[in-house]
Amino acid sequence: MLPRVTILGLGYIGLPTAALLASRGFRVQGVDSNPAVLARLASGRAHIAEPEVEALLERGLRTGLLTLHAEPPPAEVFLIAVPTPLGPDHAPVLEHVFAAARALAPALAEENLVLLESTSPIGATARVAALLGALRPDLSALHVAYGPERVLPGRILTELTENDRVAGGLTPEATRRAVDFYRLFVRGAVLGADAATAEMVKLAENAFRDVNIAFANELSLIAEAQGIDVWRVIALANRHPRVNILRPGPGVGGHCIAVDPWFLAAAAPEAARLIPAARAVDAAKRAHVIARAAALAEAGERLICLGLAFKADVDDLRESPALAIATALARRFPGQVVAVEPHLAAPPEGLAAPLLTLEQAFAAPGAVLLLTDHAAFARIPRAWLEGRAVIDTRGLFRDEETE
Ligand SMILES: NC(=O)c1ccc[n+]([C@@H]2O[C@H](COP(=O)([O-])OP(=O)(O)OC[C@H]3O[C@@H](n4cnc5c(N)ncnc54)[C@H](O)[C@@H]3O)[C@@H](O)[C@H]2O)c1
Repeated sequence: MLPRVTILGLGYIGLPTAALLASRGFRVQGVDSNPAVLARLASGRAHIAEPEVEALLERGLRTGLLTLHAEPPPAEVFLIAVPTPLGPDHAPVLEHVFAAARALAPALAEENLVLLESTSPIGATARVAALLGALRPDLSALHVAYGPERVLPGRILTELTENDRVAGGLTPEATRRAVDFYRLFVRGAVLGADAATAEMVKLAENAFRDVNIAFANELSLIAEAQGIDVWRVIALANRHPRVNILRPGPGVGGHCIAVDPWFLAAAAPEAARLIPAARAVDAAKRAHVIARAAALAEAGERLICLGLAFKADVDDLRESPALAIATALARRFPGQVVAVEPHLAAPPEGLAAPLLTLEQAFAAPGAVLLLTDHAAFARIPRAWLEGRAVIDTRGLFRDEETE
């Protein structure tokens, strides 16, 4: 029989997981501390834009396999997917995780499995287990494990089942149970590890991407100073059988890549040299894009910022360099900046610039600052760009050279 699952935190990770598990026949009890989130979900509307999640949510509610709760009900498996933001000085904030652990403690019973899915610093799973042990000294067999997520926004439901994943318990038995649980719905391989290894794996993955994108961004700055096309350099260098340089951009964003490297560096600050350097390169690249656009604005140009989301074809603004750059320019050049973001209906809070359609933005003269490589921008007729200054941070308007 499938275990009952209580999921704490119904955001980008928890909601798709809850909806998917319910669609696979699990009894899922979704818990969120935000009453507005619960009210919206109860009406069958998802509060995140993610393909197919709303349909599965609606089906789960209709079949009764997915129920919504303010407090965690008893279950065999508890899954924690609450935020783990960065605090001051880039220190990881675990308060939401501990609050979730405190909330679920009264519902626990012998042999339950508690899975921490929130991206966490090394040692967080052990701290959750210690907290639960202190709150429920009556329980002798509680299994606690870490099960990091590696899904890509926009493809979450697919990647939840298709990706290989790692599950790391605090004991071999907890690892075995966590691996067995994920194998109930994951088609990719589920690999066991100890909890600290699994925690570090997740952080290493995102730090890898951050460091390598920083390398690409550093190359872009060097190439620009030399008058060389960095995209051509990368395309040609990547013909080397053991080279795979990532793509430069205006900086990295999103909840993971811009945040998680700090969690890793925090584990041993004296040893972490490359990771903080990559973060510094990222900040320098953002500043460089702002400086180039500011030079155009100072010369009197109207600035058309294309894209606010942190990556192509999503509405996610978290840690978005595009939004940060547009916001900084709009603040510095009031009335001179407009933004185009086809995935938003209104300008985000803090952005003092009107949100226009492409047609409206291009109806008047102005320089173009391409910040997000949305598919809609790739279709902009090249004639619209003629006679305008263009800063293309993503290489979207380049005509790919064929060999
Ligand atoms: N979004 C991603 O693509 C992604 C990918 C991999 C890992 N992660 C990690 O997963 C975790 C969750 O991220 P997310 O993107 O789903 O966050 P989110 O902000 O979209 O959602 C988190 C939800 O948790 C709720 N919440 C906060 N505290 C709570 C509590 N004590 N009890 C119950 N609910 C609570 C919030 O109201 C919110 O609805 C983070 O650690 C994140 O780093 C996210």
